[in-house]
Amino acid sequence: MGRVFKEGGEHIFSTGYVPDELPHREEQIKQLVDIIRDGLEVDAYHVPILYGETGTGKTTTIIHVLNIIDRRYKGRVQVKRVNATIKNRSYLAITDLAEKFIPVPPRGLSIEEILSRLYDKLDIQDMQYVFAIDDADELIRREKGKILELLTRIEENYDRRLLFPIIVVRNLKYIDALPSHITSKLGGLRIAFPPYKKRELKDILKERIEKGIRDGGITQNAIECATYNVEKLLGGNARELLNIILMAGKLVERRGGDKIESEHIRQALYESYSSRLSSGLTIKKPRDKKYRVLWAIYKVLHEEQDKYYIDDEIIQEAFEIYKTTFQIEDLNKEDIPDILLDMAIYEKQNLIALDEGRLAAAHYPVSLVFQILTNNLFF
Ligand SMILES: Nc1ncnc2c1ncn2[C@@H]1O[C@H](COP(=O)(O)OP(=O)(O)OP(=O)(O)O)[C@@H](O)[C@H]1O
Ligand SMILES: [Mg+2]
Repeated sequence: MGRVFKEGGEHIFSTGYVPDELPHREEQIKQLVDIIRDGLEVDAYHVPILYGETGTGKTTTIIHVLNIIDRRYKGRVQVKRVNATIKNRSYLAITDLAEKFIPVPPRGLSIEEILSRLYDKLDIQDMQYVFAIDDADELIRREKGKILELLTRIEENYDRRLLFPIIVVRNLKYIDALPSHITSKLGGLRIAFPPYKKRELKDILKERIEKGIRDGGITQNAIECATYNVEKLLGGNARELLNIILMAGKLVERRGGDKIESEHIRQALYESYSSRLSSGLTIKKPRDKKYRVLWAIYKVLHEEQDKYYIDDEIIQEAFEIYKTTFQIEDLNKEDIPDILLDMAIYEKQNLIALDEGRLAAAHYPVSLVFQILTNNLFF
């Protein structure tokens, strides 16, 4: 058994796990539940559109909301989520929806026929059907919104609404590009899923750490390091955050350790994402004082690999190392933060970052940076 994860803990960080809590999506959940309630109870429904970049919690929110609706209206409402990257034609998506109620022969029925049979069946059973078409970007783009047209048109033939679609996309651009006879009938609320900020990502992690990681199996600095990098480098994508913790945890276990530290996060990031991150470390002027300062800082970090923020203690130690190693009297201890700040702002290599006002060692593994600096510096 692993020493970082609890039994079954790795699953808690996988995409298959649906969290109990969805911090920072309370508002979106409430809006959507209210829209559906109004539709079901007072027959006022306009198709809502959920939109946001990948990993911002759209699918998870849908799963939560459909569960709420299912529990609340048991017996008279059915719910379903269709993944439109798999059911990537209107015909396939509608068939998938209809099959919950009626047998659909493999061929021979038009979409219109399937829809009206579904409608009749719902009508006879006195059922309403709330469903989400998730990841609908490609489906809408390729068929120019056909599915939206079909779903809104069918309602016009009946005096009571039985279908309650919810549309989920990453980007609104394909919907906005549709002809107005389609968009005018949608007219529902657009619910935004903004990328998560560092603080929000920390809240998202709480449940997973409690359930998936042993006591003391991850340090606060590792959490700081992971959430900072996901906000800044990976678009605030919660899926990537969970993946990085999972990768870092596995790495620690492979090495026989029992605690995820910030260096493991940096290594997991580097191994999994280096192609998407900034290019390798280049040292343009090896004789430059700032690289000597950086080297001294990274020498300290190399020995204390859980460090994430560069505090006074690190600066003091680095200063001593600088003096003894280079034996040049060209550095004041007080200047070190400014030199680092300068690198954080101008170098764009993410060796040093400014995180909430504090200097931090960002996504490069310190062991790697230390080695590169050592090989390049002219002592
Ligand atoms: N607020 C949150 N609280 C807890 N976990 C979250 C939250 N938001 C997202 N997650 C988790 O992050 C992962 C990605 O979320 P989800 O699949 O819902 O994103 P998405 O917006 O549907 O992304 P995509 O556009 O790629 O389909 C999931 O594992 C989900 O459980
Ligand atoms: Mg999704």
